[in-house]
Amino acid sequence: DDLRDLYQEVILDHGRKPRNFRRLEDADRTARGDNPMCGDRMELFVKLTPDGAIEDAAFQGRGCAISMASASLMTETVRGKSPAAARELGEHFRNLAMTGTCPDCGGALEEEMERLQPLSGVHEFPSRVKCATLAWHTLNAALEGSGKEATSE
Ligand code: FES
Ligand code: FES
Repeated sequence: DDLRDLYQEVILDHGRKPRNFRRLEDADRTARGDNPMCGDRMELFVKLTPDGAIEDAAFQGRGCAISMASASLMTETVRGKSPAAARELGEHFRNLAMTGTCPDCGGALEEEMERLQPLSGVHEFPSRVKCATLAWHTLNAALEGSGKEATSE
């Protein structure tokens, strides 16, 4: 249907032309993430406002269309959010990616990922989840400031 086509268009567009694909030289937080299934990696940069909200987020790295689209959408979505709100969004997205169930859209994401699979190159379902959640895991690592490397699960 129209909404679904639009949704797919948005994802395809972000996959082809990722937003915020750059370094942030004045980042307050950074983290690296890797997807062990394929060896793709990304680096995430976060700038915080004085009261600790996310002022800017950007990323660099290498990955399939799903991981690039997910990182691009993530950096757009978390701007202006508190770390707690960003973490909650990440949880929602992860549940959605793993179970295909979203209370808001009825689980459209899983179907979108099926349709996007040819773009992602290789993957069967579980590793596509890793592609989709890599950026969110890396964001959590950056916000925790743990200095640890995030691994997509
Ligand atoms: Fe975002 Fe369902 S995937 S509302
Ligand atoms: Fe490597 Fe998706 S992130 S194939």
